[in-house]
Amino acid sequence: MRLESELPAWPQYGDEEREGLIRALEQGQWWRIGGGEVDAFEAEFAAAHGSEHALAVTNGTHALELALEVLGVGAGSEVIVPAFTFISSSQAAQRLGAVPVPVDVDPDTYCIDPAAVEAAIGPKTRAIMPVHMAGQMCDMDALGKLSADSGVPLIQDAAHAHGAQWQGKKVGELGSVATFSFQNGKLMSAGEGGAVLFPDAESAEKGFVRHSCGRPRTDRGYFHRTSGSNFRLNEFSASVLRAQLARLDDQITLREQRWPVLSRQLARIPGVVPQARDDRGNRNPHYMAMFRVPGITEERRAKVVDVLVERGVPAFVAFRAVYRTAAFWEVAAPDLTVDELARRCPHSEALTRDGFWLHHRVLLGSEEQMHEVAAVIADVLAGA
Ligand SMILES: Cc1ncc(COP(=O)(O)O)c(C=O)c1O
Repeated sequence: MRLESELPAWPQYGDEEREGLIRALEQGQWWRIGGGEVDAFEAEFAAAHGSEHALAVTNGTHALELALEVLGVGAGSEVIVPAFTFISSSQAAQRLGAVPVPVDVDPDTYCIDPAAVEAAIGPKTRAIMPVHMAGQMCDMDALGKLSADSGVPLIQDAAHAHGAQWQGKKVGELGSVATFSFQNGKLMSAGEGGAVLFPDAESAEKGFVRHSCGRPRTDRGYFHRTSGSNFRLNEFSASVLRAQLARLDDQITLREQRWPVLSRQLARIPGVVPQARDDRGNRNPHYMAMFRVPGITEERRAKVVDVLVERGVPAFVAFRAVYRTAAFWEVAAPDLTVDELARRCPHSEALTRDGFWLHHRVLLGSEEQMHEVAAVIADVLAGA
């Protein structure tokens, strides 16, 4: 059986994106210096996330690097990251010479386990980087307390969590730095792009200077006050992101309606366990529709994903535990073996084998399509 009707496409765009691109083109400045689009996008994005300080950057990986740099992370530092995440979590720390320390995630929400974070905090820990997995916010109460007690700052990786809320608070209202990605598949996109929310004006200014080769906004004399790099977003991308931001809220509302329908259907399939929701994350933008099939082998999972794609369902295998990649061991790796990390991170190990995700465009489909998608998954799992 195959999906009968096409699911909505992604990215979505319309006249607002077209008009934005023409506006950026015709204003005569295509970079942010002297242009209006990046400045306007930053103000709008900050306001939408309950923050006063947003900085647009080139991508979500650079957003993490910049956030770490502003917090003073560098060689000799340790950064606690979830083992189950996209590789940027550990790679951003390693690019600065810092050692990533992977810890396990919760087996139901797939978010970093605060008890594992607590156990990993040591004298060299300089940052804790929770990832709001697939839009489910991490336990920000427990992590906020750990951060306050230990004095180690949090960096919320909100690459999956545009518009998310924790107990009624927006990402920018939780008192920590937060980073976002706008790559092609993300909940808002300009093909590539990223942003950092800063909790205060001082760190925001540090971020600005470092993202612009160490130059303050007013520098005309090439003084380059600090080290840095060029992480500036361009005006075209910002014009598209302003239009994308205007679409976000309605899309979240729709996905919030569809996920309960899809997850209920998925839970009825023998062997399938959908990602659990911690309701304190009271607005979940649903970047991915995730589920596990405990006990499936990696080989069989890959086959199932191939067949799902053939049948019209945009399915993917879940992330690989970061320490199970070659990249992780190339620079600034912890003084631990894969076996030791695997022993410490049993849930990330399991997700590496048995995790699946569906593109969020599935959740922009009709209610009937949620039933169809689940029926195709059931059929493929029964037959593959
Ligand atoms: C959790 C997480 N963090 C960071 C990133 C990096 O973002 P980008 O691809 O924009 O560099 C991604 C992936 O895109 C991600 O999934």
